[in-house]
Amino acid sequence: MDKVSVADINFRGRKALVRVDFNVPLDDKQRITDDRRIRGALPTIQKILKDGGKVIACSHLGRPKGEFVASMSLKPVADRLAELLGRPVTFAEDCIGPEAANLVDKMQPGDCLLLENLRFHKQETKNDPDFARKLAALGDIYVNDAFGSAHRAHASTEGVAHLFNQAVAGFLMEKELKYLGEALDNPKRPFAAILGGAKISGKIDVIENLIGKVDKLFIGGGMVFTFAKAQGYAIGNSLVEEDRVDMASQIIAKIKGSSTRLYFPTDAVIASEISDSAATEVVAIDKIPDGRMGLDIGPASVELFRTELADCKTVVWNGPMGVFEHPPFAKGTKAIAETLAAMTDKGAITVIGGGDSAAAVAQLGLDDRMTHISTGGGASLEFLEGKLLPGVAALTSKSEVGVS
Ligand code: 3PG
Repeated sequence: MDKVSVADINFRGRKALVRVDFNVPLDDKQRITDDRRIRGALPTIQKILKDGGKVIACSHLGRPKGEFVASMSLKPVADRLAELLGRPVTFAEDCIGPEAANLVDKMQPGDCLLLENLRFHKQETKNDPDFARKLAALGDIYVNDAFGSAHRAHASTEGVAHLFNQAVAGFLMEKELKYLGEALDNPKRPFAAILGGAKISGKIDVIENLIGKVDKLFIGGGMVFTFAKAQGYAIGNSLVEEDRVDMASQIIAKIKGSSTRLYFPTDAVIASEISDSAATEVVAIDKIPDGRMGLDIGPASVELFRTELADCKTVVWNGPMGVFEHPPFAKGTKAIAETLAAMTDKGAITVIGGGDSAAAVAQLGLDDRMTHISTGGGASLEFLEGKLLPGVAALTSKSEVGVS
């Protein structure tokens, strides 16, 4: 990575404005149901505190659209962060203004402060320069460890970075860029991508970017049926994006003309409803009867995918194979997760995109058996699309400041 890292800096006596992605799920009692994003930022925060620096952490939570929404307060996150760090975390009830400034003034080396939700100000998502200046005034060095938000050009992820002499990458940011970047740029081959999820519309750019890069491309999830329709298969009432069928044909043709081999499910688990008690049946992928929907890849497809994945040395997976939230349609996703865990054990590099596939792996308790699970849903997708993420682009390059 060409960006200056927290590892290159001694934070002693410095006030670090640290953008983290603490956009974590909360239940209706404001309890955090998944704290992986908080745990992911700990190494960066701990390094700064250990150096004798001050951490002024900031994040968004949800999409409050520029106004205070009590259910989107970061207060529960401050409490959880304090528990995980094993030291107090002060909470500022506004991310800018006199209270935040006073709390920063009172900080001692080794102290940690978390600012209230950045998106309670509409200027955040507008990348407003004045708001960025107010945030920047709180610190003297900027650290971005929010990979999950790096695809957003917001004031705290992009604008603010230009207002510091040093805008550096946190350890989590570095780790994400390393695993996703190495997979795309310098993979151990054979290199496979497994793409799933409901719709092809969100994955077209990823597929386009991976054609010719990956040796094998496996398609699963709801988007299968738009491709199936493009091939003239009977898809019953399966989810289909009518306006993408022509594009799906073009993509198939493009893959066929490339060095990438396409693996498409041969069978599907079908049902007439999406529920935990749905009656299911397995049919050939091109013979789904009217009135029923394909909701998971079938056992023959699982076997095909497993066999063809076996020799792969690098695998990137984004998107579940079926509606895995419901047990009758979870087998395909579970089998892929278990296959990748076993491959990792044998030395393959397995990188899981954030969002649903990361949630599925966590639900199966297989987190520790993957090489890397991204904390970014949209961000990892945009990275796989080959886009330069604005939050990364804005960071200081090593070449700029003569760090080797
Ligand atoms: C995410 O959860 O993907 C990130 O925190 C970004 O959130 P956003 O999609 O609301 O910008």
